[in-house]
Amino acid sequence: MSEKLALVTGASRGIGKACALELAKAGYDIIINYVGNAEAAEKTVQEIKALGVDAAAYKFDVSNKEEVDKSIAEIVEKYGRIDVLVNNAGITRDGLFMRMSDENWNAVINTNLSSAFFVSQPVVKIMMKQRSGAIVNMASVVGVSGNAGQANYSAAKAGLIGLTKTLAKELGSRGIRVNAVAPGFINTDMTKDLDTSKFTDFIPLKRLGEPEDIAKAVKFLAVDAEYVTGQVLEVDGGLII
Ligand SMILES: NC(=O)c1ccc[n+]([C@@H]2O[C@H](COP(=O)([O-])OP(=O)(O)OC[C@H]3O[C@@H](n4cnc5c(N)ncnc54)[C@H](OP(=O)(O)O)[C@@H]3O)[C@@H](O)[C@H]2O)c1
Repeated sequence: MSEKLALVTGASRGIGKACALELAKAGYDIIINYVGNAEAAEKTVQEIKALGVDAAAYKFDVSNKEEVDKSIAEIVEKYGRIDVLVNNAGITRDGLFMRMSDENWNAVINTNLSSAFFVSQPVVKIMMKQRSGAIVNMASVVGVSGNAGQANYSAAKAGLIGLTKTLAKELGSRGIRVNAVAPGFINTDMTKDLDTSKFTDFIPLKRLGEPEDIAKAVKFLAVDAEYVTGQVLEVDGGLII
């Protein structure tokens, strides 16, 4: 076992998985979280272990406070510390504002924003005892720019940015840094049904991002950027310059 532990939510697939692997390469033991896809979670655990660190998967719904509290208590009991938290789990339920159902509004706000409140509170408790820790919240460029058809999602991601800056101010004196990454279009299951070919024209770097592009930024903020807090790093190939 390594001396440092990172918890990445929504890490069975996509961006979260890439973040977990990148932090494992930096020597962290890794706890990944997922909600339904046990097979993908187990595969990710094996890939992390192959890098020579310890790894385990915890199934809990980040939008369910009771499930979160129970799982974080188990993790803290077993490992005794959490050094890095990546609040990554997220979903989309797109639709025009005037047709958006309460259900789709609430699902996205709860999974993408309230989740960060639920998960961070018990994690910050242990980070405060350690007097050290780093949190990276997975926002989105649409939380900065807005996006037609994503009122729920862009409101949640803008909320995450506000939470990031506020926690940075509240927790800096305790040795805890809090930053956000705002990805543009990234090649994952979340974007697989979009016709992304038309977007590349608008991206200065002329390609979609890969999960690894985001993971490198997350690792930078979580591990290397020791004098950086409260920042939102846009990793979008220049999309919203
Ligand atoms: N892809 C993009 O272009 C893009 C752009 C900007 C921001 N982002 C953000 O980046 C993050 C990851 O996106 P992605 O593209 O990697 O998504 P993805 O490929 O759809 O993966 C989503 C991950 O979140 C987990 N998850 C979903 N709901 C959950 C819940 N209620 N509780 C716990 N875990 C849950 C999934 O677990 P299961 O496997 O168990 O379902 C999966 O591991 C999200 O916050 C997303 O909003 C993505």
